Amino acid sequence: TRGVHPDFMAKEIEQQPEVVAEVMTTWGPSVAGDLWPSFGLQVPRHLTIVGCGTSLHAGRAVAQVTARLGGIPYSAIEASEVATTTTVPGSLAVVLSQSGETADVLRAVDVLHQRGHPILALTNNPHSALARQAQAVMLCQAGPEIGVAATKTFTAQVIGGTAMGLSLLAAARLVDRSAVRRRVAELSGVPDLLAYAIGAARRSVPDLVPALLDSPGFVFLGRGSSRVFADEGALKLKELTYRWAESHAAGELKHGPLALIETGTPVVVLDDGSERLAANIAEVRARGARVISVGPEQATIPARTSTTALARGLDWLGPLETVVGLQVLARELAVALGRDVDKPRNLAKSVTVE
Ligand code: F6R
Repeated sequence: TRGVHPDFMAKEIEQQPEVVAEVMTTWGPSVAGDLWPSFGLQVPRHLTIVGCGTSLHAGRAVAQVTARLGGIPYSAIEASEVATTTTVPGSLAVVLSQSGETADVLRAVDVLHQRGHPILALTNNPHSALARQAQAVMLCQAGPEIGVAATKTFTAQVIGGTAMGLSLLAAARLVDRSAVRRRVAELSGVPDLLAYAIGAARRSVPDLVPALLDSPGFVFLGRGSSRVFADEGALKLKELTYRWAESHAAGELKHGPLALIETGTPVVVLDDGSERLAANIAEVRARGARVISVGPEQATIPARTSTTALARGLDWLGPLETVVGLQVLARELAVALGRDVDKPRNLAKSVTVE
């Protein structure tokens, strides 16, 4: 049941700190030791990340962490594009799917098997077709998600996938075990970070909504490790509000999207504090954009306090906590527009057609 919450999405946003805590309780103790060996997979030199929508975003976030910390290269492919895309021979396919029943994903699994790729599934459903067909399964422990828009399963996939990635780095001796244990200890700070971000978004977002009710379209900008969270925020906004939302690497603005900006255009910026991004923000401001920054303490939607050692220690993870503010923004705007946030039009929780 949704209990005291107005809708399942609100409940599932709220559950993210406890879900992450559950993921870490389940997998944390084995990350530096038994976790990777339990999969029975060889240590790969390359990862092929496969999924759709939000699950693919989670996969990208995870692959970036394993690349950043241990240098394992990867490619990320939409499941529907696997059949028409060349894959790196011998690569381990990491296939992410909340439901484990997405038709595009299952079709990709067939193709990947034909090409000889072993498959590690990251799913929320241990009884799914994906879990049955994969060589190894990592569960994301998010509990049932009723809202069609993925929220808590996204954070659970990112943290569960990061645990999996760290276990690979330990097994491959790309990061030594004591350093892996330190990373795991840092991850135990994520629930507090998310709880802070949820509270801060609940305080800051309602005041923003009235000015956005008539905005036909939104531009989301990120760079580096924040890019994938900008993509996820734009996806949430479009599926819930039925408004256009484009996400771009901030540096791409001048190569086209800048033409979209007019007085009042909302531009949601994942602020990483860099000078380059500040220059991009100045550019859109000069054209009259309504800049909504997400991230630091002084941002429009604050997501972390700069003073906590905790927030600093987790920089290697990328700004996962910003996604919470973007989920709240999408939901609050959708509610104000009278949308059914648990059941957006035209969408299904489990997409069983290709
Ligand atoms: C977005 C959303 C979809 C799913 C996608 C994949 O909020 O829910 O983009 O992420 O349809 O679904 P799964 O993860 O079940 O394969």
